[in-house]
Order: sequence, then C-alpha cells, then structure tokens
Amino acid sequence: MISFARGVPAPECLPVDELADCARAALERDGHTILSYGPSPGYAPLREWIAARHGVAVERVFLTNGSLQGFVFLAQRLAPGKRVLVERPTYDRPLKILRELGADVIGLSCDDEGLDPDALEHELRNGPAPAFLYLIPTFQNPSGRTLSEERRRRITELAREHDLLVLEDDPYGLVRFEGEPLPSLFELSGGEVAYSSSFSKTIAPGLRVGWFVFPPELARAVEATATATYITPVLLGQATVHEFVSRGRFEPNLERVKALLGARRDAMLAALDRELPGISTTRPDGGYFLWLELGGVDAAGLLARAEQAGVTFVQGADFGGDPDTARLAYSFVSPDEIAGGVARLAAALPAPV
Ligand SMILES: Cc1ncc(COP(=O)(O)O)c(C=O)c1O
Repeated sequence: MISFARGVPAPECLPVDELADCARAALERDGHTILSYGPSPGYAPLREWIAARHGVAVERVFLTNGSLQGFVFLAQRLAPGKRVLVERPTYDRPLKILRELGADVIGLSCDDEGLDPDALEHELRNGPAPAFLYLIPTFQNPSGRTLSEERRRRITELAREHDLLVLEDDPYGLVRFEGEPLPSLFELSGGEVAYSSSFSKTIAPGLRVGWFVFPPELARAVEATATATYITPVLLGQATVHEFVSRGRFEPNLERVKALLGARRDAMLAALDRELPGISTTRPDGGYFLWLELGGVDAAGLLARAEQAGVTFVQGADFGGDPDTARLAYSFVSPDEIAGGVARLAAALPAPV
C-alpha cells in the first residue's frame, strides 16, 4: 500500500544521529533538571530561545507535548458549550477535540486565498460571540492553501473590532520550498493573537515539542490546566531540541528537510499533471499536503477502489470538506512511490462519460 494518507515526515527527514548526540549532551549537562519534575510551561532555556525569536516576554511562551496537546488545554478552557469558528475544511483532530468538548463548531468557507473574511464578518455580526477562531493560515492542513496577505490584514482587523481571540496554528510556515514568507497574523496584530507552532515538522514529531505564545492571562489559565494534567511536560525532548538549536543545527537541518520534501511535492504535482490532467489540485509552495477537487466523483467510493489498487489517501469529508474532495500527503512517500501511487489513483477513477 502506498500511503498518501500519512501527514508524517519521510524517515530520511529525521536527524537521528544528531538528536541522539544532543539528547546525551543535554542529559550530561543538565540531567538533574531534565530528569526531575519541572515547571509546567516547560524547559526554561528553550522557552527563552523561542521568546527571543518572537520578541515576547518569556512568560507568554508555553511548551507542550506537541502543539496538539496545547490545543486541547486551550479548548478545555474556552470551548465547552461555546461556538468555535474554524476553516472549512480544517485539520481533523481539532474538529474532533472541539466536538467531544461539546463546542458548536462553525466551518467558514474558504477558497484559493484561504478563509473568506466576508464569511467571518457575517458570523461575527450575526451569531453569539465565539470562544475563538482556529486558523491555519500557511500551507494549511488539509488543503495546502495559504491565506493571502490582504486577507490576513482584514481578518486581523475584524478580530480586533469584534474582540475575537484568534489561534494561529503555524506548524508548516517554515517548511517553505519557494516564495517569500507572508507576515503572520501574530505579527500583524502586534502580538495580540495566540500563536502556536511545533518542532514536529522542522526537527522530529517524536520529540513531541510544540509551543504557544499566549496573551498573558491565557498563559496563566492554560498553565493551571497543564499543571493539573501532567505536572511537567517531557523535559528531555525539550532539552534535546534546545541542544540542537544551540549548536546552530536548526537552519541547516530545515534546509535539508525542505529539499527532501520539495522534491516530493514536485513529484506529486508532475504525476498529477501527467495522470490526472482534468482534476483540480492546489499547488502549495510548502508544507505536507495538497487538495484535490474531484469534480463530482465521490471520494469515499474512490478511496475504496484506490485501496484495492494499493494506494490510500484521506477523503476531504473527514476534514469537513465536500464529498468530492481529497487530501494527498506527499511528505512520507518517496518520489518513485509518489509516481506509482498517482498512477494507481488514476486507474481507480471512473472513466469520464
Ligand atoms: C495544522 C496542524 N496543527 C498541529 C499539528 C500537531 O502537531 P504536533 O506534532 O506539534 O502536536 C499538526 C500535525 O499534523 C497539524 O497539521
């Protein structure tokens, strides 16, 4: 089975030997801190490194065991019984978390430029005040789309006008193969939005190190939830990341990862152009995913036939998308497998009538 379903890095993206060395060095240098209980917002030296990168006070930086866990903490504090605004489609795990917490999840329409600000404004003017807006503006999961700069500005203004908390989830922003980075909503808002990112896509997901930059009062609220949940997050992963970045390995490793993933993105787009010329796809400049619009073909039926043919993907409906949409991840498979997998997918499509 060739998997276009898995949003995980290819094994060769992971700097295994360097991280082994960093983990040992971190333990030898600071083992008595790392191996004990510590503060719930995480390993202080890494918080300081992140605070300096974002130009914020260290008290606003909160480390969690992967950024998804921080999302759970935030949602537990804010979402139960409330409306939460999301993009449609959006990352499936937050959708499930929010629904399980009893939130009323409202999907806002998106197009090639990302979230439609008019749809947001309509909700803000007509519905009860939402707890927050969850947004993945850059190389979105699942669509690969990037919110345009004009829309970033407009959404930031709407948030300010309506006193709306925005959570900007940005794990893929640095995984850019080409083009200029856009300003984050965090930057455009002067640091008012809550921002999250992660070392999962830039170093290794198994380290489970995600981070948040919260407004100060939210940092205190989330800290209370974190302390009640696990006392301390896993300091060894955080200290290993800190050792890695302190050695100056972050940027060179990121360049290496981008080259590996960019080649996969190219292979997938070339294969789609060759095998499925009639199907519309997003053409992301970075990240892990692209999004197919299948022109009326039911993705659930296609998935069943594709799996019989030895290729799998995730149907768009799992992300709140239309029944004729699909997410393809190019991050995990090799360029050769990508070519073979897209050929199998093309063979599984119904012949045009
Ligand atoms: C948009 C988005 N946010 C968050 C995460 C979770 O990242 P982490 O490994 O830091 O929990 C993912 C993982 O795929 C993601 O796609």
